[in-house]
Amino acid sequence: MAAAARRFEDRVAIVTAAGSGIGAATARRLATEGARVIVADLSATRARAIAEAIGAPADRLAWLKMDAAEPAAVEATVELALSRWGRLDVLVNNAGYGEPALICDTTLASWNRTVAVTLTSVFLGLKYGLPPMRRRGGGVVVNTASVSGTAGDIGMAAYNAAKAGVINLTRAAALECAAQNIRVNCICPGGIDTRVTQVLAGDRADEVRRAMAAVHPLKRMGSADEIAAAIAFLASDEASFITGAALVADGGLTAGTGLPPFVPH
Ligand SMILES: NC(=O)c1ccc[n+]([C@@H]2O[C@H](COP(=O)([O-])OP(=O)(O)OC[C@H]3O[C@@H](n4cnc5c(N)ncnc54)[C@H](O)[C@@H]3O)[C@@H](O)[C@H]2O)c1
Repeated sequence: MAAAARRFEDRVAIVTAAGSGIGAATARRLATEGARVIVADLSATRARAIAEAIGAPADRLAWLKMDAAEPAAVEATVELALSRWGRLDVLVNNAGYGEPALICDTTLASWNRTVAVTLTSVFLGLKYGLPPMRRRGGGVVVNTASVSGTAGDIGMAAYNAAKAGVINLTRAAALECAAQNIRVNCICPGGIDTRVTQVLAGDRADEVRRAMAAVHPLKRMGSADEIAAAIAFLASDEASFITGAALVADGGLTAGTGLPPFVPH
């Protein structure tokens, strides 16, 4: 068996919302490939559990409880990377949040929290993460957007609007940072089978998983590891000429027009 790639040797990474799902898989992937990683999550329990499961020595891995929508918490997360390891090379802004509701039933509080956790968190990550990258002469940011930022969903308007914002914020940041050797990209996953499926669907989770699988041309949901692989690619030097991109990883979900086939298929 081929040895695992070590694309992040000597690099320092922060992954937000890393206590579960895509963020946890990304933290694990980066650590496995040699990065020193901060596992940051709103839930201390989840962040600690993932850090322990990754199992890297304490001088290579740290976890902390933080709210990615809170400026002081984001600043403190960046400061932790700098105080512990003196640099920040890779920032994965992965937090996102949505509460299903039709527009007229969406409370202002729910709208504001969705935008704060999904979009403002990315702005804050950039605001506090870019200066140390500039000082060192480069770095990489990967933001977790969604196919829900490229098209609408019934009952997810706030999330749709916020994820669309993440995609265009990514482009604006890429332009601003290109001259400083900082690349900024985002990933647009389709339906990924993570904790959120269970949380949103409750005891209908299996039914929702089947329905989700059916609408993807590959006839299954994606896994967190598959998205982590795409994030790691964007964060690595293999993607050295890619910036401002929104990489879709959705099993073909957004490849079609939605029109029925014109010939038997
Ligand atoms: N699962 C999918 O189908 C899917 C599809 C497209 C995009 N995404 C996006 O991927 C990202 C991760 O989702 P997931 O499916 O891995 O979810 P998940 O539920 O498995 O994990 C989410 C993690 O985020 C943490 N979190 C929530 N709010 C936070 C905050 N304010 N600050 C810090 N951490 C916070 C939670 O504690 C949890 O550990 C989100 O941005 C989500 O919108 C998910």
